[in-house]
Amino acid sequence: MYKVISLILFILVYKFSYSETIIRFSHVVSVDSPKGIAVEKFKTELEKISSGRLKVLIYPEGTLFDDIPVIEALKKNIVQMAAPSFSKFSDKIRDFQVFDIPFLFNNIKDIHNFYNSKAISILNRETENFGLKILDFWDNDFKHITCSKRLIKKPEDLKGLKVRTMGSNILNAQFKIVGAMPYTYPFGSLKHILEEGLIDCQENTFNNIYSQKLYNSQKYLTVSSHGYLGYAVVISKKFWESLSGEEKKLIMEALKKTTAYERELAQRKNFTDFFRLSHNSNLYVYKLSEEEKVYWITFFKRHKNLFLNYLSSEMAKEIQEMGLY
Ligand code: SIN
Repeated sequence: MYKVISLILFILVYKFSYSETIIRFSHVVSVDSPKGIAVEKFKTELEKISSGRLKVLIYPEGTLFDDIPVIEALKKNIVQMAAPSFSKFSDKIRDFQVFDIPFLFNNIKDIHNFYNSKAISILNRETENFGLKILDFWDNDFKHITCSKRLIKKPEDLKGLKVRTMGSNILNAQFKIVGAMPYTYPFGSLKHILEEGLIDCQENTFNNIYSQKLYNSQKYLTVSSHGYLGYAVVISKKFWESLSGEEKKLIMEALKKTTAYERELAQRKNFTDFFRLSHNSNLYVYKLSEEEKVYWITFFKRHKNLFLNYLSSEMAKEIQEMGLY
């Protein structure tokens, strides 16, 4: 009897001390992109500080879920973490589109200030209501336009061209008002639809353009910096609520280190990839002059109300009160 009790106690203690909590982290980009590398770092940090009790399984390059379906999968706790680009949330949480308004932010400092603003508390609340929790924000960079058919110097040059978008109403509106035809495709198909000639143009960061080898199918790159591509690092609310206080603390600790690293890496990689695209690819790279940039900004500002109408009145009011728009 004594032996049986000891055995049961041993099994219980063993199970308790060595039980693992699995975090499935899904993403769509390449493993050597800033996001791909950051997810690896997060795994290393978290597994180290939790002595392996919190285990991260990474599913890169859309192997488990495409970028939009992952949002629903997180809500259902099929995967626990992801870091989709802001536009991918917009179907479910429309205020994420605030990042898609053309020329709303001038530089990365504006973006980082925005992460600490009241607008983010609105986004946090809406995201929790949907069933996810925002843990942090990661950078990629500002987006630029590539095309196969012609060089884009002014917005009207996009007229009649088919453009791939990440799928928010604001991104689609941005291209419709210039007379282009926006089509939404997942990131995983981007390279192929351009290679097949199904789509003429797309907007993305230097890093995504370079790592996806879009220079093989696109001829022209316009350095427009017209919109921002960043990521919300989110966790399934259902999963988060099942964790102990200590586990939550460890996740936040690992994430804090990762975010600092990711943001620095994103800037560095975009800088070197711009150099590579300019010097080691056949892309014709065109940088908008100051006057041309002012023309683009004025052009899109004329449609301010159209963009604001896609946001909740609370978010629209907030960004106007902040003096951003
Ligand atoms: C990403 O950077 O996660 C994807 C961006 C895109 O869909 O173009």
